[in-house]
Amino acid sequence: MENLENIKNRAEKELVSAQNSEEIKKVFRKYLGKDGEITRILRSLKDIQEQKRKAVGKSANQIKQELEQKIEIKKKAISAVIEKGKSKKQMDISRPGHKISIGHIHPITKVKKEVEDIFERLGFSVVEGPEVETEWYNFDALNIPANHPARDMWDTFWLRQNESKVQNPKSKINTKSQRLLLRTHTSPVQVRYMEKHNPPLRIIVPGRTFRYEATDASHEINFYQAEGLMVDKEISAANLKAIMEKFFEMFFKQNVGIRLRPSFFPFTEPSFEVDVQCVVCKGKGCSVCSKRGWLEMAGAGMVHPQVFKSAGLNPREWQGFAFGMGLDRLAMMKYKIDDIRLLYKGDLRFLEQF
Ligand code: DAH
Repeated sequence: MENLENIKNRAEKELVSAQNSEEIKKVFRKYLGKDGEITRILRSLKDIQEQKRKAVGKSANQIKQELEQKIEIKKKAISAVIEKGKSKKQMDISRPGHKISIGHIHPITKVKKEVEDIFERLGFSVVEGPEVETEWYNFDALNIPANHPARDMWDTFWLRQNESKVQNPKSKINTKSQRLLLRTHTSPVQVRYMEKHNPPLRIIVPGRTFRYEATDASHEINFYQAEGLMVDKEISAANLKAIMEKFFEMFFKQNVGIRLRPSFFPFTEPSFEVDVQCVVCKGKGCSVCSKRGWLEMAGAGMVHPQVFKSAGLNPREWQGFAFGMGLDRLAMMKYKIDDIRLLYKGDLRFLEQF
């Protein structure tokens, strides 16, 4: 019995100081293995005197069980430490981290910046105007009087407002023209700018515009335009054509053919549509240009005398050209996008391609 107690103490001590699974196995083998000290005692029970056998057997079995339990516990503790160590090893602090996605510029913004850059290089200043506009600047000042059928060219979002706020007794403009709307084009900024700046002048006005209309692949209720205006003593349609040609060449980074087609706008005389030879098929005809070989990119013309008058300038003294082009159109051409609505959906599968 004394010997058993001794064995137990030694075994427990050795187990406590065991550092790894190999050392635990050693303790197991030494005491509980085939030739282990406790195993041997249990095996030799039959040689012990009858009176002692029962007590020794009981005690030896108890010690065996206890030791087995302690070994199990120690094994678990050691493997937990090993696991922890492993996961520590996997952290490599020199490894580059995950890049945080911060988004990027929207294709329309990209095109807007490119257009601004090109026109700045051609001597134009970038100017802005309000998106909430008065009826006067959006229509009347541009030679589009109330009740004139030309207004039908622009389906308008009107803003409801308090009638008393509309009254402005000092204004020469009739109160009706003070009604507010979401600008249907960037052209009102022509008048706003010429009221405050004397020619000669060259401006480009990029901005958001709105139309009250049904949406489809080529129509949205809001879109972007860039208005251009150049005023001096002697400006002709030849200057307009040269600037347009230069711009499209710089924007598409290739020689593109352009043509001016007669058209009508109340604020220009004469008026044109500016067509660009399809950059996809080079004028042969394809699905992008609906087999026409040409794409309508802008409205343009020579500034109407009435517009100069609206801005307080003498039309006998000044001449100019103006144009308005769709930035969405430009983006769609440049990146071969076939549906304008994709630009406003915020669908990441689309946006992440740019
Ligand atoms: N404002 C016109 C539109 O949105 C486009 C336009 C045509 C602008 C001729 C111009 C111009 O400056 O001269 O339909």
